[in-house]
Amino acid sequence: MLRGKNRKNNGKLRNRSNDLLTVEWKNNQVVMIDQTKLPGKLVYVRYKKYEDVARAIERLIVRGAPAIGVAAAFGMSLAAISSKAKAPKALLRDLEIAYDRLKTTRPTAVNLVWALDQIMNVAASKNNVEEIKKSIILSSLKMATDDITTNKKLGMNGAEMIRSDEVILTHCNAGSLATVTYGTALGVLRAANDMGKKIRVIATETRPVMQGSRLTAFELDHYGIDFSLIPDTAVGHLMSKGIIDRVIVGADRILKTGHVYNKIGTYQIAALAKRHEIPFYVAAPNSTFDLTSNVNEVVIEERNKNELMKIGNKLLAPKGIKVFNPAFDVTPPELIAGIITEKGILRPPYEESIAKNF
Ligand code: MRU
Repeated sequence: MLRGKNRKNNGKLRNRSNDLLTVEWKNNQVVMIDQTKLPGKLVYVRYKKYEDVARAIERLIVRGAPAIGVAAAFGMSLAAISSKAKAPKALLRDLEIAYDRLKTTRPTAVNLVWALDQIMNVAASKNNVEEIKKSIILSSLKMATDDITTNKKLGMNGAEMIRSDEVILTHCNAGSLATVTYGTALGVLRAANDMGKKIRVIATETRPVMQGSRLTAFELDHYGIDFSLIPDTAVGHLMSKGIIDRVIVGADRILKTGHVYNKIGTYQIAALAKRHEIPFYVAAPNSTFDLTSNVNEVVIEERNKNELMKIGNKLLAPKGIKVFNPAFDVTPPELIAGIITEKGILRPPYEESIAKNF
């Protein structure tokens, strides 16, 4: 199972020479891959209104912490160019309305509010309408290109520690599709693969939204990296068999204490990794760090019960039951062997290494 080749190019979706560009600014519109259509169709959607970008973030058309940050920044660019304000004060008021709408789309990934705050700070530092509009577009474009260079640096930093022949488990999707392109956890795997290290990847399906089977599997296939998909429930079994050498996941928020918020299920993978003495790594850019919140203050998003109750229109559980569907969990620092960033790999004690990093 783990040594087999992935399926052959189906002639439609795979184009290894091309990076998947998740979100982009083109002709004053926001263009993004509709991730709800993957893996069946690679479809791009275009938006002219920030309200549509906000809905796209809520509906997971675009998802993944860095990608929603950049999408929100482009949403602010749409708000800026569509504003009819004649004076800076009025324009800033319009921008604040867009900021508030975009900010409430998803509560856990800190990259969203990080990106929105950067845009508002740039806007507030200019003093005429045209300058404000231009600076917002330029800043959001820079954010998008910085995301790519950051991921590549982070990828190289992580890839250096990986040995050839390692089997690496990842959870959810922290790849090109969760960033502008290249990815964080999957960026490390791509860099290692590009260095010629013969890695094999285990991707969890990541219920209930299936980011692993729909998106990570699509990406690894697209980039030609050897992988196997497993059910979430098989993680302990594979670890107990000695099949997994390392775990690398992404993050939605990292606190100054080293607590990591990531896709639901991450914590139990980290706990199992500790039990089996398998190093558990987190890969995330500096924009994912939240140095002010405490662990009890961060809101963990709870999503619609239908994500658990249905597949398409097919009911999977009795109607009317109670459902609890948290989208993220918290992994405590004592379970984490290292945090891979664009500046290097942070090691415990995290209070010290994170403070030093900033
Ligand atoms: O609900 P999602 O799909 O937005 O959750 C995404 C994750 O949990 C990722 O692991 C995280 O955002 C890191 S992406 C580089």
